[in-house]
Amino acid sequence: MTTTAQAFNTRKEQQEPRCSSPDVSEQSYLVQVVNRDSWFTARSDKSLLVGMELDASQTIAVGCRGGGCGMCKIRVLAGKYDSKRMSRAHISEQEQAEDYVLACRIYPRSDLVIESDHFTVKPEL
Ligand code: FES
Repeated sequence: MTTTAQAFNTRKEQQEPRCSSPDVSEQSYLVQVVNRDSWFTARSDKSLLVGMELDASQTIAVGCRGGGCGMCKIRVLAGKYDSKRMSRAHISEQEQAEDYVLACRIYPRSDLVIESDHFTVKPEL
């Protein structure tokens, strides 16, 4: 037979969040945009561009959000990030070596210092 106190404790245990190790995939980092004299916070499980949008910042130009247009080209001056593949049409090997990236293709892994507004308008043919 279950007493009222036992039933209450059982329900309480079921409602309390489970303890678990910290999920590094959901950390937030501070991103300083030096040429805009601004900053925003970005989650590690979202691309830097989406993180900027979620924080209601407008410090990086937004285009296709998928690596196809080059509008979100930035340079990372300090900090760590992971990157998905980026088109050579927008980021050359030389630029990649100098930490130019597409903000929609990188994921922050530490606080970052970046410089935005590196996209170039391609001449019409
Ligand atoms: S928004 Fe188009 S390449 Fe990033």
